[in-house]
Amino acid sequence: MSIRDRRLQYETAGLDIDDLHPDPIAQFNRWYTQAEEAQIAEPNAMTVSTVGLDGMPDSRIVLAREVEQSGFVFYTNYSSAKSKQLNENPSASAVFAWLDLHRQVRLRGKVHATSPEQSDAYFASRPRESQIGAWASAQSEQLSSRADLEARVRDVTQTYSGQEIPRPPFWGGWCIAPMSMEFWQGRPSRLHDRFSYINEAGIWSIARLSP
Ligand SMILES: Cc1cc2nc3c(=O)[nH]c(=O)nc-3n(C[C@H](O)[C@H](O)[C@H](O)COP(=O)(O)O)c2cc1C
Repeated sequence: MSIRDRRLQYETAGLDIDDLHPDPIAQFNRWYTQAEEAQIAEPNAMTVSTVGLDGMPDSRIVLAREVEQSGFVFYTNYSSAKSKQLNENPSASAVFAWLDLHRQVRLRGKVHATSPEQSDAYFASRPRESQIGAWASAQSEQLSSRADLEARVRDVTQTYSGQEIPRPPFWGGWCIAPMSMEFWQGRPSRLHDRFSYINEAGIWSIARLSP
């Protein structure tokens, strides 16, 4: 089937303002639980967009590791392209796509680095292989070959043999503190339900948007 002819009718139950939790983080957690129950692959995957000083948006998928009242936390290399962009312009948007449920959640907000203690705690919870990978990968830098990466992995493995692996100083979390969030539920004939939450002076208001 050609891409232009691909069409899915969204027959899911609708979304009404009375269905929504007044707090968008609580609403997110409700939908996230349903995404897990529906066995959506990688339900915590979100596409994060950043814009550095060159003004060009850049997007990539990362995994949300903590969803807290303060925001959505992901972990990465602090020297990566995304981190450079966030240092230049600490703002981001993110989108979760739970396509089997015909749902999308969007958010926009200011970004701050998580505390060293929070990054340490998350790093310590990672599998050892991932900890080694964090040390071995100069994320977003050009790499001459796969063999070069594998050699770095061997070096790091040897360096920390028999020891706990500390968090690299160039690796940690970013927290996107949402100023706005949107919950989208697909409905038949493209007449979808969309609700936008906006935070003004600490108070969330909810509005229905045209699809
Ligand atoms: C499902 C999935 C999950 C990912 N999770 C992360 C993550 O949590 N942290 C991360 O740094 N990169 C993650 N990546 C890789 C990023 O998409 C990206 O390639 C990498 O962070 C480099 O991006 P940058 O060059 O824009 O900084 C993930 C990719 C996929 C497809």
